[in-house]
Amino acid sequence: MSDRISSDPTGAGDQWGSQAGFILATVGSAAGVGNVWRFSYVAGENGGGAFLVLYVLSVLLIGLPIIIAETAIGRALRHDHAPATRRLPKLRHWQFFRVLSVLSALAILSFYAVIAGWALRYLIGAVDGSLLRIASTGHGEFFARFIADPVEPVIWHAAMMAATVFIVIRGVQRGIETANRILLPALFAAVALLAVYGVTQDGAGAGLRFLFQPDWTVLGQPRVYLAAMGQAFFSLGVGMAIFVTFGGYMPQRQSVPVAALAIVAGDTLVAVLAGIAIFTTVFAYGTDPTAGPQLAFITLPHIFVALPGGRVLAVLFFALLVAGALTSMISLLEVPVAWCVQYTPWRRRQAALALGVLIFVLGLPSALGFGLLADIRWHGRGILDSVDFVASNFLLPLGGLLLLTIVGWRWGRAPATAAANLDGNRAAAPWYILIRWITPLLVLVILARGFLNG
Ligand code: TRP
Repeated sequence: MSDRISSDPTGAGDQWGSQAGFILATVGSAAGVGNVWRFSYVAGENGGGAFLVLYVLSVLLIGLPIIIAETAIGRALRHDHAPATRRLPKLRHWQFFRVLSVLSALAILSFYAVIAGWALRYLIGAVDGSLLRIASTGHGEFFARFIADPVEPVIWHAAMMAATVFIVIRGVQRGIETANRILLPALFAAVALLAVYGVTQDGAGAGLRFLFQPDWTVLGQPRVYLAAMGQAFFSLGVGMAIFVTFGGYMPQRQSVPVAALAIVAGDTLVAVLAGIAIFTTVFAYGTDPTAGPQLAFITLPHIFVALPGGRVLAVLFFALLVAGALTSMISLLEVPVAWCVQYTPWRRRQAALALGVLIFVLGLPSALGFGLLADIRWHGRGILDSVDFVASNFLLPLGGLLLLTIVGWRWGRAPATAAANLDGNRAAAPWYILIRWITPLLVLVILARGFLNG
């Protein structure tokens, strides 16, 4: 086993083409539909400013330590032949973690691709103007009819999967790195423009106060803490071997903690800018910030119709969603593809095509879960929400916990700290305490919440 691990995991000599490659790809994987659609509605439902404070704390106490641990072990396994790392792949936990991460990737991508398809449909509608011609009160009905259609969502879902497969087939450098080099600056530009527009509107102050002025009374509600931790997990995409896989393509000379800080800063920036854009607009128009998942697909289009320049804003907003979705989908597909190339005789092209088709088929129930299959419900949730719930509340936290066990309790302090480039660094001791004790405890809380709410 250790021979296969230390051999090239992608079979194609894959490595990032530049120093920025790892950061580009991991920020691309982190910044997605979760930052725009999920962050805004979860923040809206959980009190805004106080939620933001808890979210940033969760990113620093849960996200950052796990990202450092994942990246360190991913790169060490790829480059290092020292006995300390050769022992690791033989641990049963490690194989279990890898298999779990492949299952999480398949599950998340199957429903994520459906939402990405909706965003693509809305982008086309914004570009050709049809979205803006719907009567401003008709957006709820339009969205409900669209997602219940037996054919349309499936077509858009297929289109997003096809684009993802196309990019992943082209490989780490020519596919993933190049796509992020184009899509990520576009994403940052779109969200920054929307945020600037948002703050210049009359009445923007209320939205900014909602997002930045904490109302500490909501801290009395446990669900706000849990929502913040769960959102940090999902938004950063930790616990799923993304950073293990991408860390494997990272050159030795790059610093793990510096890269990890850049990733969490980039991801948080996108979420905060999207929050500014969305809440200034929602408050300026006197609509409800606690609208829930429909905030992006119903509340905002409804406002865009009424705004001067609304069509440009709608194009920017849905382009932002589509670009974010695509960069995250690439990463979600790369995890099982890299695993197949490493452990099966398949090459990248075969693996990407076969997995792409498999994930598309797995996503069909989610795509049809609002129409043909709307009667299938589990604990009050439809199919898409159920898959999201199981993946985000069980599979990802479980993956995170396993990884922390391996790095914090099995690997040993010296090799782990060295692999994380924290040797002789003042941050080494706090990081090690976090990954051994504090982060796993917080993750256990997320898991327990999942069981209790299930
Ligand atoms: N982080 C992505 C987003 O915010 C979604 C996501 C969840 C993800 N888990 C992941 C992406 C794992 C890549 C890998 O939209």
